[in-house]
Amino acid sequence: MKDFTIHIHGSGEDESFRHREGDRSLLRSALQAGVGFPYECHSGGCGSCRFELLEGEVDVLWPQAPGLTDRDRRRNRYLACQCVTKTDLRIKVSAAAEYRPKVQPRVFRARFVEALAVTHDILEFRFVGDGPAEFLPGQFALMQLPGVEGSRAYSMSNTPNPQGEWHFQIRRVPNGKGSTYLAEHLKPGDSVEVEGPYGLAYLRTDSPRDIVCVAGGSGLAPVVSIARGAAEAGMFGSRQLHFFYGGRTPRDICGEKFLRELPGYGESIHYYPVVSLPEGDTASVWKGEVGFVHELVRQTLADSIKDFEFYFAGPPPMSQALQEMLMVGHQVPFEQIHYDRFF
Ligand SMILES: Cc1cc2nc3c(=O)[nH]c(=O)nc-3n(C[C@H](O)[C@H](O)[C@H](O)COP(=O)(O)OP(=O)(O)OC[C@H]3O[C@@H](n4cnc5c(N)ncnc54)[C@H](O)[C@@H]3O)c2cc1C
Ligand code: FES
Repeated sequence: MKDFTIHIHGSGEDESFRHREGDRSLLRSALQAGVGFPYECHSGGCGSCRFELLEGEVDVLWPQAPGLTDRDRRRNRYLACQCVTKTDLRIKVSAAAEYRPKVQPRVFRARFVEALAVTHDILEFRFVGDGPAEFLPGQFALMQLPGVEGSRAYSMSNTPNPQGEWHFQIRRVPNGKGSTYLAEHLKPGDSVEVEGPYGLAYLRTDSPRDIVCVAGGSGLAPVVSIARGAAEAGMFGSRQLHFFYGGRTPRDICGEKFLRELPGYGESIHYYPVVSLPEGDTASVWKGEVGFVHELVRQTLADSIKDFEFYFAGPPPMSQALQEMLMVGHQVPFEQIHYDRFF
């Protein structure tokens, strides 16, 4: 098996890591070697893992990945999560300590046990791995699914556990290859390849601030994990949790069930659902808030908005609106904001 060396020239000290033939991407080799290679989605969408190729030759796995612009491509830039190499490389990228994995990622087979309904289009898929499930609340894993090109990122909704249980709450996307495979073809006893954990939007147990969780659509899982992790860490003795969930229509609304199971629900844990389109069968029974979730966050937290630790996950437009509202509109410090955009 061939073994290549990747030399990184960035703004700090030069570093290098090994990439073996058969490794799934340069980014995975870098993170598994403990290198702080910048990334966010691990799925070709965000562009955070972009690097400049100075010397050598790479193989691009997904040429149309939206994380690169045509200008990037003309300037010899590549996405580390969407390429492998067949030569030694010299690349330019600014590695940073914050990206170094806090929990060592690994590849393992996980056996599918059961799927439970969360809403009309979200199922909770439960898997068991081959050892303890080690990750931080809020992180995600990559799934390699039979017949599906590329991997799919899914956030864990449970918390780390010695039994090796990995729970994912996955929304079925119309015509989506990965989510359709999971919903229609996966049978109890089947196993899939899982790799992780990854992700930087994990629970900061050392923060003294009250917590705000915001999810939209399929972004439920990581914030449920954050809420559960905070409860297990005993954070609700001295802190409050404000949990916002935005759905399109009333039947999309979910999340409260999981919060009710936590000690402190209604006292230190508060739930705020909002829909953007109060239409359809359930419109007549919807008595709650109507609008966009970032607006409800702004109205609810009002003048105290700078005092919280924020965690959010969901579609890119929701994350963008929240980021702008918090950072530009209210100057909430960047260090207090942790999010995943779900491409
Ligand atoms: C960090 C993160 C966490 C996520 N967590 C969740 C979660 O908890 N629950 C949930 O429901 N969804 C989650 N998602 C979204 C999820 O990863 C999928 O995008 C979604 O399920 C749709 O996948 P699909 O295969 O059904 O749809 P498709 O339209 O078939 O695929 C969509 C995605 O697959 C990837 N992709 C497509 N083609 C290729 C290719 N040729 N090579 C490589 N990659 C390709 C891209 O990322 C694309 O956005 C998360 C996404 C990210 C980035
Ligand atoms: S981490 Fe590679 S494009 Fe997002």
